[in-house]
Amino acid sequence: MTDLPERILLGVNIDHVATLRQARHTRYPDPIEAVYAAENGGADGITVHLREDRRHIQERDVTLIQEVLLTKLNLEMAVTDAKLLYAEKIRPTHCCFVPEKRQELTTEGGLDVISEESKIKEACKRLAEADIDVSIFIDPDLKQIEAAIRCQAPTIEIHTGSYADAKTKHQRDIELQRIIKAAEFAHQAGLVVNGGHGLNYQNVQAIACIPEMNELNIGHGIIARAIFMGLENAVREMKQLMMAERL
Ligand code: PXP
Repeated sequence: MTDLPERILLGVNIDHVATLRQARHTRYPDPIEAVYAAENGGADGITVHLREDRRHIQERDVTLIQEVLLTKLNLEMAVTDAKLLYAEKIRPTHCCFVPEKRQELTTEGGLDVISEESKIKEACKRLAEADIDVSIFIDPDLKQIEAAIRCQAPTIEIHTGSYADAKTKHQRDIELQRIIKAAEFAHQAGLVVNGGHGLNYQNVQAIACIPEMNELNIGHGIIARAIFMGLENAVREMKQLMMAERL
């Protein structure tokens, strides 16, 4: 087991600020205001997912976010030629490859790296050449991690959704153990290990205390909390909960 590093980073996913705006096609709430609030609250980075159906974040948002951002942008995207060209053009600090289905409410599972290995390997190479740090969003599955290593991805983001959605304590413990094992395995292989999906103020603690976790990407839980306490406060509270696990 790795020593517990003092720092754990928080990437705030602001997609759902744009979801609310797109629900009425208004000008508000503005994701740019969310960037300021999240950074003031202690976010280490801003994450957005430019989905094929543009249901929340639009290209214009990404351009403006890049102009005002003080931290770093993590662009989540499907591995398509159009998205790769877009990433090469705008050059975010990080890109996270995610699977994407039109009908899904949110990203449902990790990317199946094994079945798309040559395409993903080529995509990793292209973005590395553009000086973009690539991460692959995968389930806590050692075979998928081995495939990510073969693709020469420097970073993986472990899908924490099955842990977050577990209905019983027993199932949650099983899912947590899978994540712990996957994080240890990937870290030992030299990968940077991030995590995310479904994390909130009740379940983040067990994930934040996994020593190999470098960064957690959290969206829905923080934006939901922000309705009642403001985004800056919601981000600050999440960051404090995570950091408390590193004391
Ligand atoms: N990480 C990835 C790769 C995602 O696709 C998402 C959802 O867009 C998140 C993290 C954040 O998930 P949540 O909104 O459930 O916190």
